[in-house]
Amino acid sequence: MLLENKKGLVFGLANNYSIAWAIAQEARAQGAELGFTYLNEAIEKRMRPLAESLQASLILPCDVASDEQIAQVFQEVERTWGKVDFLVHSIAFAREEDLEGRYVDTSREGFRIALDTSTFSLVALARAAAPLMKDGGSILTLSYYGAEKAVKNYNVMGVAKAALEASVRYLAADLGPEGIRVNAISAGAIKTLSAKGIRGFSEMLGTYAERTPLRRNVEPAEVGRAASFLLSESASGITGETLHVDTGYNILGM
Ligand SMILES: NC(=O)c1ccc[n+]([C@@H]2O[C@H](COP(=O)([O-])OP(=O)(O)OC[C@H]3O[C@@H](n4cnc5c(N)ncnc54)[C@H](O)[C@@H]3O)[C@@H](O)[C@H]2O)c1
Repeated sequence: MLLENKKGLVFGLANNYSIAWAIAQEARAQGAELGFTYLNEAIEKRMRPLAESLQASLILPCDVASDEQIAQVFQEVERTWGKVDFLVHSIAFAREEDLEGRYVDTSREGFRIALDTSTFSLVALARAAAPLMKDGGSILTLSYYGAEKAVKNYNVMGVAKAALEASVRYLAADLGPEGIRVNAISAGAIKTLSAKGIRGFSEMLGTYAERTPLRRNVEPAEVGRAASFLLSESASGITGETLHVDTGYNILGM
């Protein structure tokens, strides 16, 4: 039980396809007590039964574009738990028109929205969580290969993920002295609600399955298991790292 006696917050559970769901299931199986947040009421309807099935002690609204809602979440966490041991940031958003065509055509507002929701939100959540990580802590975010290489149609989200991976390193440097570790998992392509917004995503899945060293796409549960490892004391010496859980795709040259 890697996460026994640990209390953890999961941001980004939308439905049973969400990567956050795979992570939460595994974290619960490893003994963690969980709290969840949701973007809006429509999402709440789908995620609440899932969260309740894992005996969640907290289910709270949180649009990460709102500093006020972020503050309210952590006030409630302090009231209920008095502390937090880990945080999972599994959130990203870009406008549909910015996930197709040419990156050079990204609008100023599209860029701002993608980077604010997908990247700055990690900074805001880490800053709010740190004072409650009284016995140290572990923060985990989700990235993708488009941070490292230009992937067709990923566009502004690739730039947001590059900034996210850099943020992981800067946050790890800042929070390390407080015993707080910050890491990312760079996951292979997984069919989720967000992924459907990327033009050509289904073809991408086929290409990966043909080419990766393991000749298949990654399973959400594999990301869940790697997440539990990084969130746990087993990874006590690892911070500022981006771990690829992508059936090996990133190691290929051609
Ligand atoms: N699916 C993939 O192929 C893949 C691969 C690598 C990384 N990722 C990353 O994994 C993470 C989770 O995505 P997913 O694929 O599970 O899709 P998902 O749609 O299930 O999850 C995305 C979540 O972000 C939330 N969200 C969006 N805007 C928000 C806001 N303003 N405030 C609060 N929450 C907001 C949504 O409500 C949703 O719960 C994302 O960071 C994504 O980029 C996904």
